[in-house]
Amino acid sequence: MSAIVSLRNVSKHFPGQGSGAPVVRAVDDVSLDVEKGTVVGIVGYSGAGKSTLVRLINGLERQSSGRIFVQGRDISELPERELRSVRSGIGMIFQQFNLLKSRTVFGNVAYPLKVAGWPKDKIKARVEELLDFVGIADKATRYPRRLSGGQQQRVGIARALANHPDILLADESTSALDPETTQEVLLLLRRINQELGTTIIVITHEMHVVREICDTVVMMESGRVVESGPTYSVFADPRSESTRRFVSTAVHGTPGPETLRRLATVHPGRLVSVGISEASPTHSVASTLAQHRVSASVVFGGVTEIQNRVLGTLTYELTGNEEDIDRALADLARTTSIDEPTIGAAPSAGTSLPEETYERAGEKP
Ligand SMILES: Nc1ncnc2c1ncn2[C@@H]1O[C@H](COP(=O)(O)OP(=O)(O)O)[C@@H](O)[C@H]1O
Ligand SMILES: [Mg+2]
Repeated sequence: MSAIVSLRNVSKHFPGQGSGAPVVRAVDDVSLDVEKGTVVGIVGYSGAGKSTLVRLINGLERQSSGRIFVQGRDISELPERELRSVRSGIGMIFQQFNLLKSRTVFGNVAYPLKVAGWPKDKIKARVEELLDFVGIADKATRYPRRLSGGQQQRVGIARALANHPDILLADESTSALDPETTQEVLLLLRRINQELGTTIIVITHEMHVVREICDTVVMMESGRVVESGPTYSVFADPRSESTRRFVSTAVHGTPGPETLRRLATVHPGRLVSVGISEASPTHSVASTLAQHRVSASVVFGGVTEIQNRVLGTLTYELTGNEEDIDRALADLARTTSIDEPTIGAAPSAGTSLPEETYERAGEKP
């Protein structure tokens, strides 16, 4: 594999607002490689520097220091005129779709081709092909205001693909859409990647978007890359605290302290949360427990698929001989994470329970 976009020690500083305000390090010493033909997710909270990073990649913003390579070309010092040719190989889609209100669907998709000087008959054929590809061939004569958000984003995607870009930059492209429409747009992005081979850089603050379509994840915080890697590895074993928080928004399954207390009142057995992954799939957890003559029933949990690989957590109520249970847990702990939370006392009326009452047995020395 080869990198289609490479950043080497790239920083972008903005002057602070108001006199004496410190400079804003929007992007701070970032190095990364985007492999050709992959879907990469750039994730982080608002203000992390994600949009600035994509604007650096398409040359809308110039770096303060470092080097940026796009399709093998060093764009760091390119004059504006030459940047335009680099940009023509990059499609861009936006959160608010950015369609021209005064033009029809056809006119919006045709626009970049007109600007690029395509002849009329070629434009017509290409636009029809694109509208068909994104599934809105019947909407060609409509105006954007008469389309749903999902349809407008399809127009935006068709427009971005018009010039056969090798790279597609999607900045929060599903953040304005409802969950169902988001899912449709994500499926479309995945199809573009698979059928056209387009490299896609997805900027998002939503981890479920990453779970659905990204091959690799780059986690940003305060302008820096704090973690990156294959999506499954980052989800299964997040290293930084902020990545862990992000992952927990898309992989559910661990009961909170309130839920645990409620579960404990109805399930008298030992409550144990077991990590489910490729290294410890549900059937092998079940057979390990059975080997040790421990009965188990699932009382809470969530198991999902990431890059076609299983991942999640199941909380079991275990019943049987205490020593058998201990031996079974020790056995399981060799391949996966085991949490046996201490169930705190119910909070007295009007006070909230301190977090420390939810201890994880697995983290004790
Ligand atoms: N043109 C600009 N001038 C000054 N500050 C900016 C500019 N663009 C972005 N910033 C600042 O840079 C930081 C990163 O912004 P941005 O890249 O938009 O983050 P994100 O897309 O992750 O929300 C923020 O603190 C933002 O206020
Ligand atoms: Mg942004």
